[in-house]
Amino acid sequence: MSFKDELQKLRASFDTDLATVSGDDELEVLRVKYLGRKSGLQDLMRLLKDMTNDERKDAGQAANEVKKAIESAFDLTTTELERARLENLATEEAIDISLPGIAPPVGHLHMTTTAIREIEGIFARLGFTRVRHPEVEWEWYAFETLRVGPDHPARDNWETFFIDAPADDKKGKMVLTPHTTNGDVREMERGDLPIRMMNINKTYRRQSDVSHVPMFHQFEGLLIDEGVTITDLKGLFEHFAKEYFGADREIRLRPHHFRFTEPSFEVDISCGLCHGKGCRMCKDGWVELGGAGMLHPDVLKAGGVDPEKYGGLAFGWGLERTVSMRAGLNISDLRTMYSNDVRFLQQF
Ligand code: PHE
Repeated sequence: MSFKDELQKLRASFDTDLATVSGDDELEVLRVKYLGRKSGLQDLMRLLKDMTNDERKDAGQAANEVKKAIESAFDLTTTELERARLENLATEEAIDISLPGIAPPVGHLHMTTTAIREIEGIFARLGFTRVRHPEVEWEWYAFETLRVGPDHPARDNWETFFIDAPADDKKGKMVLTPHTTNGDVREMERGDLPIRMMNINKTYRRQSDVSHVPMFHQFEGLLIDEGVTITDLKGLFEHFAKEYFGADREIRLRPHHFRFTEPSFEVDISCGLCHGKGCRMCKDGWVELGGAGMLHPDVLKAGGVDPEKYGGLAFGWGLERTVSMRAGLNISDLRTMYSNDVRFLQQF
């Protein structure tokens, strides 16, 4: 076969191969096969050097033409493949915007946080300022200055959590405060009278049942001014009850005893679960919110306040209890508030 016939055969074979190409990878294989160093075309080129000058001129020209034709065929195919890819993009990568989306889960504040903010707001409108006093506290502020002496049962390991820390000569041991009343003397010590304090904080006691969690919250109101009386106390509670629970809930004061108040009361609210009939949560139709009373003169003195000149009222209520007694909330076991089950929490 003549040189030119060989070239024609090569060219024909290239055309046949090229017609079957459908992607970049296949095209690359062909490029190596027809233009690479071991290609048939290179083999033919190598024959040129053994030819006469005239033969070589003619054959070389023919070989170059075939080479150029093959190269431009490659360029054309490359462009076509790219165009086809872009055209298909519209269908291959299309997004069906009519499909329903996957909504990301959106959380909300824990019911305790919501309640804290709401209660803070109600008392803020009465001029009470939210403050923070320590959760890890000296016996001095949690008990001693409140006339809760060393023999009182609250100072027992079975009722209060003690911190494994060195004791202070005057202030005693450290505890996880069992009530927010620890803030009362601290607030007085700031020396800024009159006082309208709202201390909302975590409190801790060794108890756990349907109406108690070992870590709970209390909100403590402290009002110290000249001429403060029990009528102020009643007025505050009635206002709070209307604002937070609604007009249909009732407040009742029962005489009680606290070491730091005289007289002392326990404040009850009619149960929102059974509406006063009596149930597992409340037993007799009323739920205890917490204690209240007029500060004992010795407590005022401990805070550096003159009991001859100033009177003080204080109240400390359980936040979780308050939340659960609110209209519409049927929390029959307080512990579920902190067991971190989203199925429960997302309801509120
Ligand atoms: N600290 C008391 C308790 O935890 C409540 C209380 C606060 C009582 C203020 C009287 C005055 O039970």
